[in-house]
Amino acid sequence: MLTLDITATLGQTITPSRGIPDQEFAALRTSVRRYVEDWLQERERGEHAWSMDPYDKQVIQQVKNATSWVKAEKIRTVVWIGIGGSGLGPKVIQEVFEGPETLEFILMDSIDPAMIELQLSLIDWKEALIVVASKSGGTLEPMSLFFLCFEKMQEARKERAAEFVIAVTDPHGGTLRSFCKEWGIRMLPIPPGVGGRFSIFTPVGLFPLALLGGDIDRFVRGAKEIDTICQNPNLDENPAAQLAAVQFLLDTKRDYPVRVIMPYSTRLASIARWDQQLVAESLGKSEAKNPIPLAAVGTEDQHSLLQQWMEGPRLAWHLFIREEERPKIAVPLAVEKSFASIAGKTFAELIDACYEGTSRALTGAKRPHATLTITRLDEEHLGQLFYLLMIEVILLGKLYRIDPYDQPGVEAGKKITKQILE
Ligand code: PA5
Repeated sequence: MLTLDITATLGQTITPSRGIPDQEFAALRTSVRRYVEDWLQERERGEHAWSMDPYDKQVIQQVKNATSWVKAEKIRTVVWIGIGGSGLGPKVIQEVFEGPETLEFILMDSIDPAMIELQLSLIDWKEALIVVASKSGGTLEPMSLFFLCFEKMQEARKERAAEFVIAVTDPHGGTLRSFCKEWGIRMLPIPPGVGGRFSIFTPVGLFPLALLGGDIDRFVRGAKEIDTICQNPNLDENPAAQLAAVQFLLDTKRDYPVRVIMPYSTRLASIARWDQQLVAESLGKSEAKNPIPLAAVGTEDQHSLLQQWMEGPRLAWHLFIREEERPKIAVPLAVEKSFASIAGKTFAELIDACYEGTSRALTGAKRPHATLTITRLDEEHLGQLFYLLMIEVILLGKLYRIDPYDQPGVEAGKKITKQILE
């Protein structure tokens, strides 16, 4: 199961001037109750379309059918093209599920020519499937990469090229959709009301998971479990609401604008980048208060950023993410004698000690932090994590009074780039 520990954000632990005093937390109970109830009513009216994705049996079946076809065709390499929400979520899935027994998954989200050259050199197009994911179907990076890859596929597969392409896009509009219709390319839908960064439970997340041998039923089950738990309007029993409350109070009442998201798990490094996008694009729309997310990873960033977090300006609070059950690889018993304390210890014990050391050091320095712990990094727990972090952002939208769904700043940049190229 997923648990949230917020003890080290509270005034009782790190003094009331540095942490959240009881009365501030208590004062938020009534508004959180109302916001949770509002969010549930809005869902009933058809808003928050993403929140119903885990319940969409038809799309889940479409993903399963497409995956069976990929297996039957003995595809060995999936070339996944997508950026932002259409790339960061699949990257998390890749890092958790790709292994020696799975398909090879090449994620193309960079238009750096050197990177493109390198990736192209790795692909045997006769054994590859192109999946191009773009909600709008109009984003420069994935579309330019797609046209290049489609040309390569045509060279390899001739008139059958279109069979080895699947597009994940809006089922009702967009350039990619028109192109696919013209060429007879199959499509999987990102439902119309679901934006890129909220699309992890559409084929954007489900398809890579199924392609890499993951169980999508367990993934959506995890989401539904957290959904049920987080429908509770009681702040003390709703982890998404608690996380939102902590984020909001630390930023607006205690002046910690920076939210460091730091998994102590290399396979989860990308969920920090996914959450960074989710928070920044959803809430970064006001010159007044709003959270500034920063993705980090343990233990690496202890050796890079921790110095500043411990003694630099008091700007950041930390959200750690941990997994409990991990492979049992141990340090050998034969180590140099000054390292006797680690001889025979598992690497999981070492990483836990590093997490514990950092978190206690931050507590000692009166710097707030919270921890999300999952029992193990599997489909169900990953589903729980993604869903919880999205509910948190919706509740934060209500607390900060910001519409989490549009991204006018991003669109402005896209428009100018297009004009330059034209
Ligand atoms: O969350 C969003 O809407 C954006 O970050 C998009 O994911 C990103 O711009 C890519 O857009 P698209 O999927 O339409 O290509």
